[in-house]
Amino acid sequence: MSLRQTATFDLNVSVIASDLPCSESQFRLLQCLADGQFHSGADLAERLGLTRAAVWKQMHGLESLGIAFHSVAGKGYKLVSALDLLDSDQILSGIAAKSARNIAALQVHPALDSTNAHLLRLPAVDPGKAIVCLAEMQTAGRGRQGRRWISPLGASIYLSLLWRFDEGPAALGGLSLAVGVAAVRALRRCGVEAIGLKWPNDLLWRNRKLGGVLIEVVGESHGPCRVVVGLGLNVSVPRRAGEQIDQDWVDLAEICSGRPPSRNLLSSLLVEEMVDLLCDYAEKGLTAYLPEWRGHNCVLNQPVRLQLVDRSETGVVRDVTEEGLLMLEHQDGSLKSYASGEVSLRLVDTAASPSNSGFNA
Ligand code: BTN
Repeated sequence: MSLRQTATFDLNVSVIASDLPCSESQFRLLQCLADGQFHSGADLAERLGLTRAAVWKQMHGLESLGIAFHSVAGKGYKLVSALDLLDSDQILSGIAAKSARNIAALQVHPALDSTNAHLLRLPAVDPGKAIVCLAEMQTAGRGRQGRRWISPLGASIYLSLLWRFDEGPAALGGLSLAVGVAAVRALRRCGVEAIGLKWPNDLLWRNRKLGGVLIEVVGESHGPCRVVVGLGLNVSVPRRAGEQIDQDWVDLAEICSGRPPSRNLLSSLLVEEMVDLLCDYAEKGLTAYLPEWRGHNCVLNQPVRLQLVDRSETGVVRDVTEEGLLMLEHQDGSLKSYASGEVSLRLVDTAASPSNSGFNA
């Protein structure tokens, strides 16, 4: 399989290369070392068609990507921790045929600026067919509201899907909620339970962030549009990368007591669930996902603060509507609904301000 693994079914995808920190030979070196065993410099040099000096240089370049290794005279090189690298063939073989029929191409890149940005640069996609993109790392991972999404190499899932909708962005209000449900379904199928959803786009475990959804849309407000659905999910985030995350986070390694599901299996199930969702969404909208979303809503009846563009509001979370709007009950008993847009939601610390309790919760 080549550096950029592209499994294409019936559409050829042209990929625009970006300026990236992980060279082809570095990535092939990583693939050789991913098993976490010792490999001699001579063996690596032969497999990669490099000199031993070039292998040594590439190894030291890996350090700048956050990859730690041992170098022992007479034994060679060994990664401090084995890496579970993505493989497009394995991912494809784990996707049900019925869903795979709706995938035009599945790309796995060693590094991209952002899987969302990459798909947004591609030309239009055929109706009813997804282009799927995964990367081992992102150099400019995007979060909601202009935030960065910290994306170290081989540590998490960075997944985006490009899809065409004929209805226009106005009809897509509930999509990020439905994507959350699809992700919870995939996680359950890998044996990961007790994942909660926080409106509009967070996946949480015991109130700590496990993942998030970023949907980006290009098109007329009522005409056809191209939609990129992006999902970031923490799998085994190295401590140093984790220090850059500016909120309380968790990864699957911690949730699963050090044995997270394989990233390839997880990717297959996430892609399958999301492709099925994209196929259904135009017709069914959020309706088919809403009961499950409600069941996973981890801030139901909790006092929260909504940060809007120009002000903040507090209230108690009561529900979400068929359109994906958040229903908040205010202190005076009134119910108001909010669209996700540029809104963020935080739990109110009731211990610190008892007057903000969940009143008639
Ligand atoms: C959030 O702020 O919670 C949303 C984070 C979304 C991150 C994912 S990672 C894959 C895709 N590519 C990006 O640049 N962002 C999304």
